[in-house]
Amino acid sequence: MHTNYQWLKILSVSLSAAALVGCSDLSQTRVEKGQVNRQPFGKTKDGIAVDLYTLRNSKGAEAGICNYGGLVIFLKVPDRNGQFGDVVLGYDNLADYIKDTPYFGAMIGRYGNRIAKGKFTLDGKEYTLAINNGPNALHGGLKGFDKVVWEPSILAGPEGPSLQLRYTSKDGEEGYPGNLSVTAVYTLTDDNALKLEYTATTDKDTVINLTQHSYFNLAGKGDILKHEVMMPADKFTPVDSTLIPTGELKPVEGTPFDFRTSTAIGARIGQDDEQLKFGNGYDHNWVMNKPMGQLGLMARVYEPTTGRVLEVWSTEPGLQFYTGNFLDGKLTGKGGWVYQFRNGFCMESQHYPDSPNQPNFPSVVLKPGQVYKNTIIFKFSVQK
Ligand code: GLA
Repeated sequence: MHTNYQWLKILSVSLSAAALVGCSDLSQTRVEKGQVNRQPFGKTKDGIAVDLYTLRNSKGAEAGICNYGGLVIFLKVPDRNGQFGDVVLGYDNLADYIKDTPYFGAMIGRYGNRIAKGKFTLDGKEYTLAINNGPNALHGGLKGFDKVVWEPSILAGPEGPSLQLRYTSKDGEEGYPGNLSVTAVYTLTDDNALKLEYTATTDKDTVINLTQHSYFNLAGKGDILKHEVMMPADKFTPVDSTLIPTGELKPVEGTPFDFRTSTAIGARIGQDDEQLKFGNGYDHNWVMNKPMGQLGLMARVYEPTTGRVLEVWSTEPGLQFYTGNFLDGKLTGKGGWVYQFRNGFCMESQHYPDSPNQPNFPSVVLKPGQVYKNTIIFKFSVQK
């Protein structure tokens, strides 16, 4: 619930945002520090108008977020020389997102990653989901949370400008049980972190696994193979050839999956390894060492040419690290950048893939009366 004070703040910030409406050219966006600007971003296939919200913090960093899919459209942060640059892949217009996107910048739900054969059993009842990835269900179905229109409100909190997005997924939507009410709050904090806080409640037992699917390239161009990655994870979940976990929690020790010390993504990605072949690179879930539910560091990524550093923090137990292995030069994004093989990577904080069918994985069941909470933070800094 909001306090009266918060609502007052919402109102006053909304008014200042409204005053800035009307500018539709992304490069022309002018936003005051600590403010949120709203501008039209096009219409969905059903004719619903959606907006692009630009959050700007006191340091001049900017996050552009659309209330269609909760898409992070751009994220501008400084390099080691103080030069601001966009570090996420995507398009500069809504039509391209609607036409064809590998989940660029999207909020993912109800279930991030795969559910084997699109089936799971809960309370003795079998549920059937759309098969949309080989023989499996992926990322919440045919019209997942990445493709729905969220109800926006601009908030202002002590940490920086925020955009709240709300959506109620109907009982049976995409095959999942229960009316699920989801609130997502994006905040661009003054220490250059984009924070996403999800909460959700249900009126029937259901399963839930929300995540964020931004593709990063901290250099803003080229492939991501020289980015150096550290993940505090002693184990990962190996997969079968359709990328469903086998159920094993396998030690990373002695494998190309050992990122406990910072290592270039490209250093071992080409090794003769069955798991790398199944993923056509890295497309796996790492099992974090930190305690379940506790906010902690999931990954640190360093890009040597710009000095940019991305830290991923989350309350979730797993991290799907995906190296853009399905990008193949067929999509042209912002500024005419043709997205080639491995031009971006994703760090998807979440529960492990296929958890509803894996009794030894942490549970993804949400029951009436419980509140689902999940915080994901992408924090930027520089290394000299
Ligand atoms: C996740 C999956 C990948 C792929 C991407 C989107 O990372 O694990 O296999 O589906 O999303 O293309």
